Amino acid sequence: MLLMPYERKEIAPEKIREQEEICRRIFDRVTADGGRPLAMVDTYGCQQNEADSEKLRGYLAEMGYGFTQDEFQADVIVVNTCAVREHAEMRVLGNVGALNHSKKARPGQIIAVCGCMVQQEHMAKKIKLSYPVVDLVFGPHELWRFPELLERVMQSGKRVFAAEKDLGAVAEGIPQKRDGSVKAWLSIMYGCNNFCTYCVVPYVRGRERSRRPEDVVAEARALVAAGYKDITLLGQNVNSYGKDLDCGVDFADLIRMVNDIPGDFLIRFMTSHPKDATEKLFKTMAECEKCAHQLHLPVQAGNDRILKAMNRSYTRQKYLDQVALARRYMPDLVLTTDIIVGFPGETDEEFADTLSLVEQVRYDAMFTFIYSKRVGTQAASMPDPYTRADKQKHFDALTELANRISGEKHREYEGKTLRVLIDGETGREEYNLSSRTNGGRLVHLKGDPSLIGQFAEVTITSSNTWALYGEIVTRTTDH
Ligand code: 5AD
Ligand code: SF4
Repeated sequence: MLLMPYERKEIAPEKIREQEEICRRIFDRVTADGGRPLAMVDTYGCQQNEADSEKLRGYLAEMGYGFTQDEFQADVIVVNTCAVREHAEMRVLGNVGALNHSKKARPGQIIAVCGCMVQQEHMAKKIKLSYPVVDLVFGPHELWRFPELLERVMQSGKRVFAAEKDLGAVAEGIPQKRDGSVKAWLSIMYGCNNFCTYCVVPYVRGRERSRRPEDVVAEARALVAAGYKDITLLGQNVNSYGKDLDCGVDFADLIRMVNDIPGDFLIRFMTSHPKDATEKLFKTMAECEKCAHQLHLPVQAGNDRILKAMNRSYTRQKYLDQVALARRYMPDLVLTTDIIVGFPGETDEEFADTLSLVEQVRYDAMFTFIYSKRVGTQAASMPDPYTRADKQKHFDALTELANRISGEKHREYEGKTLRVLIDGETGREEYNLSSRTNGGRLVHLKGDPSLIGQFAEVTITSSNTWALYGEIVTRTTDH
């Protein structure tokens, strides 16, 4: 796939200040009667979307909105959508259709649909024609000007559509209202240049563009100062961080810069593309004491013909070599992956190569998907002779293998004592707290909720396929 020429674009700071000015106008408008207006933001899909929703909430908070999860209480509803698989799109359409009820009950309610799904022309059209309940549609490239678009709906009372074809820009300074107080998402780059043949992301999120290292470090520093203990650096392919900037800072350098920020916190990141994960990255991960020994390295398939048809740019052997190299630097590395089964034309024998790769690598956890045909991608026009039932059979076999290995790996933790970060409550009585190991494995604990946000030494007492269970030995830091 030839890339269209893309010149890096930055949204000028004055433009963001203008948006904040609009937030103040909306504030005056929606709080004029002395009431407290409410908004609901519903998020589908990946962590990047979670991070985008924190920006939508940041703007909404500046407009004076409080937040609710109840669509019957909301004055503004924003549905932030995903386009990676059909299943997510179907859920969005079903849920958006059902908003008819809340809109009838609250006639002034404004309903917005944004994100990757509506950046696809056919989906924007579908909503325009078949979902009159929706007042505002905007794609990921317009997120920075959400206040302006919302004000236009408020002033005109008309439907507004803004999902123009675009390759994207970098916008700094958008306010954020974060979900938690322990873990934080930090976007370091946007977009994707890889054009894996099954994937819609490069079409909807535009070209790769990196935030400047000083902006990333400033945000990380602010998160640490605010008490966050677990920072995940986000990008579609973090290993190509900085390539568009020409400032001599690559992803490994960026990790080192964040690692140099004083404080007791963990650095995680996702996602790494195997084609350009480097020895320098593994070495840096091993040397930086705050960097979690956790790597999400999507393999997608274990057969070379399929990898080539997917345009993944590596072979099974190259992938295995990388895993071996990463483990040489970090023997305790927690390794996870994504796998697609049922890519067009994948045979039983080719699928068996995926099973054998999984047996060989022994992932700590896997995210497995049945191939979903995406409009406009190259794979959509490849012959796809196998039935859904064939694919389901492969999927079930893979899931069974993944679960067996996860269970076995979890059992190896039993009796060990390790450091975890306590990050929330489970809502269950017996094991009321949840925590994560440095490698990101889930550990359920008993303890006082005041421990949330603290690191602790924990002895693992039991486990199953999905989680570890443990007892706190000592706390290691104060909040
Ligand atoms: N069908 C199924 N899974 C997909 N993914 C991306 N595109 C598709 C698709 N068309 C999966 C990949 C990717 C993860 C985020 O979603 O495994 O790594
Ligand atoms: Fe999609 Fe491939 Fe880009 Fe990941 S690297 S977002 S799978 S095109």
